[in-house]
Amino acid sequence: MIVARSIPEARTALRDLPRPLGFVPTMGALHAGHLSLVESARSRCAGVAASVFVNPTQFGRGEDFDTYPRDEARDLRLLEEAGVAVVFMPTAGDMYPEGFATNVHVGGAVTESLEGSSRPSHFDGVAVIVTKLLGVVQPDLLFLGEKDAQQLAVVRRFVRDLDLPVEVAGVPTLREADGLAMSSRNVFLTREQRATAPDLYRALLAGAAAAGEPGAAAKDVVVAATSALLLPDGALDPDAVDEALAHPRFELDYLAVVDEDTFVPEGELGPRSRLVVAARLGSTRLIDTISLASAYPAKDATA
Ligand code: PAF
Repeated sequence: MIVARSIPEARTALRDLPRPLGFVPTMGALHAGHLSLVESARSRCAGVAASVFVNPTQFGRGEDFDTYPRDEARDLRLLEEAGVAVVFMPTAGDMYPEGFATNVHVGGAVTESLEGSSRPSHFDGVAVIVTKLLGVVQPDLLFLGEKDAQQLAVVRRFVRDLDLPVEVAGVPTLREADGLAMSSRNVFLTREQRATAPDLYRALLAGAAAAGEPGAAAKDVVVAATSALLLPDGALDPDAVDEALAHPRFELDYLAVVDEDTFVPEGELGPRSRLVVAARLGSTRLIDTISLASAYPAKDATA
């Protein structure tokens, strides 16, 4: 595996890779979810490149840029074992040299709702770095995780709008055995928080089950998922309900049904409906999502 630490080194190394070329951008702190992106890339491409770069412009003030987990030696070992041919590890100076003045801004709900309103300017940072990485690597296929569903929608949007010659491939979320979506930030969870964290996915499953009920609308999905999140034992005892509401285990940021392309909140369920959630456990912010598309044909048949 070639480790390219500058743009010229990357261009030289990438020139000789067989096509189609698959590209997996990461911020390092790799886990099995990243490796499944590499595996998807290997299954579809003759050559696979990855990048490791903790992109400062997608972190807001007070977010975890400084403490974001970093382990270069381990990342390189895992990428090599996974069959990556070239890994691009630029410095911030390479990506944002003196005088850098370009922004890539995608407009509309896809950047302004949910993650976009909780993390203003986050998607500008993602859009500019992914555009720049695509310019350096020039892959045929770009592999991104479906867990970051809004990021995936933003990237698809600007790739389409700018006619960038790359296919964007979404890869299903990899989960721990108890359902927790794999994330580099899971290492920040205390033992107690780690035990609570899978309830986020259980809430999504409760929402998806509600979506499958005849005549279900988006609000039924949201109510079912929110109840499952805040009342995890299905507590009907009023004291237990009071207690759960007085001391919520998650600090809910948002829980919504959206169109997965536009991220416009939906009232009716449709073939592109997706349930998305963000919640904090202590200082760690977790996001997760589930497609509601499989509920749609059932609902449609009863209409
Ligand atoms: O999903 C991530 O890890 C990052 O947002 C990405 C796509 C590598 C851009 O920095």
